[in-house]
Amino acid sequence: MANVIAIANQKGGVGKTTATINLAGALAEQGLRVLCIDMDAQANLTVGLGINLATVERAMSNALAEPRARLRDIIITTKTPGIDVAPATLDLASTEVDLLSTIGREYALAEAIDDWAQGHYDYIMIDCPPTLGLLTINGLVAANGVIIPVQTQYYALKGLAALMKVITTIRSKLNRNLRVLGLLPTFYDPRTVLGREMLDEMRENGDNHVFDTIIRNAIKLGEAPLAGQPITAYATASEAANNFRELAREVIALG
Ligand SMILES: Nc1ncnc2c1ncn2[C@@H]1O[C@H](COP(=O)(O)OP(=O)(O)O)[C@@H](O)[C@H]1O
Ligand SMILES: [Mg+2]
Repeated sequence: MANVIAIANQKGGVGKTTATINLAGALAEQGLRVLCIDMDAQANLTVGLGINLATVERAMSNALAEPRARLRDIIITTKTPGIDVAPATLDLASTEVDLLSTIGREYALAEAIDDWAQGHYDYIMIDCPPTLGLLTINGLVAANGVIIPVQTQYYALKGLAALMKVITTIRSKLNRNLRVLGLLPTFYDPRTVLGREMLDEMRENGDNHVFDTIIRNAIKLGEAPLAGQPITAYATASEAANNFRELAREVIALG
């Protein structure tokens, strides 16, 4: 059975997609088979793994909306060995609206991740959109673990309570297996007092596990998606690549 991990935070630009791509890169580098599922209509994950959206014929919108559509029919192999992607396209936004009036609407993704997918991959990573809407809820219902990237900047912890409330509700009503794997500090700049203070606050005042791994501000992390590769392939000896290898070790250790 695959380990299914959602990457969620309703704030945009906190490093969800970056964490998804690069954690996948570090896991795949170890010979693990990884599927990345793009649940954001902006399709940054799909593009960041080197897929040309113009060539995508069937996407998550099909897998979620059509009862007979199978995940395996939409999956594309990427140029990074070991990583496949279930791509998103713009029409995922209207899929979310259509799902709203569907019975079992919270379970569409969980059902799409069928026995074939569970058996075919070691890790299935779900990149959630920057909302607490139905697509994110589908991601959390389908997952057994959630990683929450948090920017080590002002107001970063604001809004976390709302996300935690949703996670608690999902755990009690829809998915008992959901576990918060941890908060992942991102965009860290050790030169700023604010960054260090935010990190301390996360570690000291929170109820949630915080990963030891800290993802620093790194220009290369912004460049790698343009090359359509995880940082582990794009700049294999960089500190950022090593950060994600360390994160992969922590995630594997969590089981
Ligand atoms: N640690 C980092 N250092 C520098 N740039 C980053 C870092 N993490 C992400 N980025 C860049 O910041 C932008 C937002 O990150 P992204 O992962 O897309 O956030 P989200 O998916 O939460 O909206 C992207 O352009 C990404 O390449
Ligand atoms: Mg994103």
